[in-house]
Amino acid sequence: MKTIKKNLGIGFIGGGFITRFHIRSWVGVRNADILGIYDPDQKRAGEAAALARQLKVGEARPYKSITDMVADPAIDAIWICSPNYTRIAVMEEIAEAVIKGKGELIGVTCEKPLGRNVREARRMLQLVQKARLLDGYLENQVFAPAVVRGKEIIWARGARLCGRPYLARAAEEHSGPHMPWFWEGELQGGGVLNDMMCHSVEEARFMLTPPGASREELTPVKVTAYAHCLKWQLPEYVDHLKRISGGKLDYDSRPAEDFARSVVEYKDRQGNILVVETTTSWCYVGAGLRLTMELLGPEYSMQVNTLDSGLKVFFSRRVKGKAGEDLVEKQNAEVGLMPVVSSEEHEYGYTAENRHMVESFLEGKRPMENFSDGVNVTELLMTAYMSIEKDKALPFPPPGLDSFIPAVARGQWNPRKKK
Ligand SMILES: NC(=O)c1ccc[n+]([C@@H]2O[C@H](COP(=O)([O-])OP(=O)(O)OC[C@H]3O[C@@H](n4cnc5c(N)ncnc54)[C@H](O)[C@@H]3O)[C@@H](O)[C@H]2O)c1
Repeated sequence: MKTIKKNLGIGFIGGGFITRFHIRSWVGVRNADILGIYDPDQKRAGEAAALARQLKVGEARPYKSITDMVADPAIDAIWICSPNYTRIAVMEEIAEAVIKGKGELIGVTCEKPLGRNVREARRMLQLVQKARLLDGYLENQVFAPAVVRGKEIIWARGARLCGRPYLARAAEEHSGPHMPWFWEGELQGGGVLNDMMCHSVEEARFMLTPPGASREELTPVKVTAYAHCLKWQLPEYVDHLKRISGGKLDYDSRPAEDFARSVVEYKDRQGNILVVETTTSWCYVGAGLRLTMELLGPEYSMQVNTLDSGLKVFFSRRVKGKAGEDLVEKQNAEVGLMPVVSSEEHEYGYTAENRHMVESFLEGKRPMENFSDGVNVTELLMTAYMSIEKDKALPFPPPGLDSFIPAVARGQWNPRKKK
């Protein structure tokens, strides 16, 4: 591993939607500058680099390849933010560049999900360890200020006096992804369950875990899940998906789930049963992205709803502007009473997440949210898919988990053809 410095140079792989979120969050991150972007789409790379320079969060420039970026001594850590189907090839190129001595790095972070299935997630962990790099798993919701502060208060007051919380609920819902590849089971790894339940299962586990305790404090024992395609197999929406993908998406014959729920039963070290209940959907049409979280115990509860924002605006029907995402992520309307999430980068947890990753790398420590957590999340999600396919509750870990690929990721899932 490279010698630790006082200020990190960061390179991003992928210059799309989530990279722009990270770049905007960087105004609240110290001791690290964004210096590079690699994206095979040079226009995207140039735009992301320009955004970083404009926000004065680093003199970013586009690179021609991942290896070139790793080889630059100015780059100390890499943030992997390219599509799910590129994970292994991207991580292999980083690891090879480091192992062959073409460049030196301190660490790598990777967006969710760590892999499209357990085999891929484990491979990511193996590669980062082989290259002797520190690793961070980018699950922003465990850094969201309302979640962190809520957990702190619940555990310090309620749990200390009346007993630990026993139920955590989390949901992430919106009206569907912004790019065609997310909708394609094979490219993305699944449907909404893989795309968004990864957040909810991890956020809920985090809230149920005592402050400062390790992940091993809770052991998953049973998983039950359900999924369906409620909206996007209706003829009008099948046509819409065909149109936006140049005919590639075919939800009549190869849909992915747009609604899913799961119940994960855990045991803690004292043998208490704890429950995580999650819901997720691509068929929620409200003002925009809605994240809800709850933590409940014997004499207390906490709740978060990101659309319950402090700021609201109202536009009459005479305000006929362009459609945009300037009020809230995955916005669905521009008129009427609309909630505004005034700093999404901060409220969804990206700023604190990136600060933590940078601080950990500067101290030479493994981040508290790392690739091992990413593997555990993938194991839970794949068990949820197995439970859906077998239509029953499964003990965790179920046999065959290591090599399991969900039917939706094999293009073989279609709830309309059932029975
Ligand atoms: N934390 C969150 O809430 C959150 C939100 C959105 C996306 N994500 C994750 O971030 C990742 C990227 O999603 P996005 O929304 O930015 O997608 P996107 O499609 O908007 O952007 C992806 C970018 O990666 C580029 N790309 C394609 N192949 C590449 C390769 N081999 N190497 C480097 N770049 C490549 C594309 O040209 C594109 O610019 C996904 O894994 C997704 O699951 C996380």
